Amino acid sequence: MVEGFFRSHPLIIAHRGVSARFPENTLAAFAAALDAGAEMVELDVTLTRDRHLVVIHDDTLDRTTDGRGEVAALTLSELGQLDAGFWFDPAFSGERIPTLDEVLALARGRAQVNIEIKVSAFEPEAPTDAVERQAVVAARRYAMVDAVVISSFEPRILRRLAALAGAVPRLAVLTETPFAQSDLDLCRELNAWSLNPGWSFVTQAMVTAAHRDGIRVLPYTVNDLDLAKALLNMGVDGFFTDDPVGLAGI
Ligand code: G3P
Ligand code: MG
Repeated sequence: MVEGFFRSHPLIIAHRGVSARFPENTLAAFAAALDAGAEMVELDVTLTRDRHLVVIHDDTLDRTTDGRGEVAALTLSELGQLDAGFWFDPAFSGERIPTLDEVLALARGRAQVNIEIKVSAFEPEAPTDAVERQAVVAARRYAMVDAVVISSFEPRILRRLAALAGAVPRLAVLTETPFAQSDLDLCRELNAWSLNPGWSFVTQAMVTAAHRDGIRVLPYTVNDLDLAKALLNMGVDGFFTDDPVGLAGI
């Protein structure tokens, strides 16, 4: 067991569920994560044409469903017809694109949920039912505000969340570029819970500086045991992995 800065053991976050062994971002993948005892599951959320929140990583349907084209071009009902499991393995045929509500209902009382809001869902005009507002409403509806972390690569989404009145889930800043002081400045501005960088950008200096500011460092996506150990030696507080089963007990 590795003693962390914030905790006695690393926080292992099931990235898109147990996406190494199940079709990513499906109820099967999330149920497997819960069964494996994952403390937190990560999912990607975006808007349908009729403004519902659905759980899918890509902006297009082509890679992970039997549909074609933009997710945002279809209604929830149309998306519900698609198969989101067959592409991974015919054994998972019949898996659907879940709604955010379905995943919250599944995880409630069993695991924390990291809702990553896709950059492409950002709306400059900030409608009252913008994706980030709907995510907060959903967390409140399921009484999961304390069990949810909302992350995004889009700082404008995070700034809007930080400015909302009432109970708001913890916030996390996602980055995919080499560490810069501005990343921590944004975390401080937002009172963020964590900084979530691509693992290759983690440095000792980053971890030390983040911890000095009371911010966790949770890199993505770590699927190799030696890499996980090296990152933990740098002091990270956990990591996202496609295979929480394979890395269990680290
Ligand atoms: O939230 C961590 C990770 O999911 C960010 O990248 O592209 O896998 O959503 P991506
Ligand atoms: Mg993600």
